[in-house]
Amino acid sequence: MFRIAHISDPHISRQFYREHIKSLKMLLRSIVDMGIDHIVISGDIVSTGHEDDYYLAREIFSKLGLLDTKRLTVVPGNHDIFGGPHRAVDVLSFPQHIRGVDYVRNKNMFVQAFAETFQGVRRLAGRAFFPFVKEIGPFRFLGLNSVPPWSLRYNPLGTNGFVNQEQFSALESIVPELQDDEFVNTIICHHHFNDLIREEDVPSNNFWKKVESKTMRMKKRKKLLRLFSEMNARYVLHGHIHRNEVYERNGILFANGAGAICDDPVRYLKYNVLEHDDGFCSIRICQLPIVYQESMVSMALHRNRKPLHIPMPAMGGVE
Ligand SMILES: [Fe+2]
Repeated sequence: MFRIAHISDPHISRQFYREHIKSLKMLLRSIVDMGIDHIVISGDIVSTGHEDDYYLAREIFSKLGLLDTKRLTVVPGNHDIFGGPHRAVDVLSFPQHIRGVDYVRNKNMFVQAFAETFQGVRRLAGRAFFPFVKEIGPFRFLGLNSVPPWSLRYNPLGTNGFVNQEQFSALESIVPELQDDEFVNTIICHHHFNDLIREEDVPSNNFWKKVESKTMRMKKRKKLLRLFSEMNARYVLHGHIHRNEVYERNGILFANGAGAICDDPVRYLKYNVLEHDDGFCSIRICQLPIVYQESMVSMALHRNRKPLHIPMPAMGGVE
């Protein structure tokens, strides 16, 4: 049996999310102790894009013996490159801040920070780091960078997804060799392929759908889905929207791992496990009996919350 654990969006930050650091350490420790063969993290490893948080992530992975191409595979998310607004006050300044972000520098910083995990990968687009191919046990990973540069029109908040033409052509060029059944083709990228806001949830109001399509979408996803089918892809592992779920598109199973340590309605540490056993493959969400670690602020708020007291009416005949 060969098992892959998939998580996403740990958003670690010494400045803003110390509780995420605790949660990530606990989750990775549990995964390692269970003897899982390999771990995939599909982006937003750090929340700020700062060097300090990259050092911290390296330290966490290194202490668990994960800074190794055979043990860990990573791709970038929008926070790894652009950071994000973390306090209410940042919401106003972020649109200005993002224009000054050096996209190429930060993308390279991501690759350098986790350089050991890219050792031995096959790059498909010349000197570009993405897309890459990595064979791990029975799985063939195709790692993409779905974070495009900032653009006022197409990516105003840095949160949209897009796989550029260079990566697209590189993937097209290896379609013939992906048709063997020797490996299970598994795509790894940051952005999602399902609708964040479903028609049945907001039947008469298209406003939020429009907001989503402007700021949170994987662009040209139908074209990409067709390519994934041609690539004989069995699984797509991604993150971005903070919840864990498994869904199907075009006969391919998609797994979102972004509720691993925060924000999922089920507030327990969790991961997706992709299992290969005697030629059969399965994917499922595994939940640990450990709740998300809380921030000092949230703990303080809970401490001050008094239990609701409802006076019961006196019962007749009972003294
Ligand atoms: Fe993200």
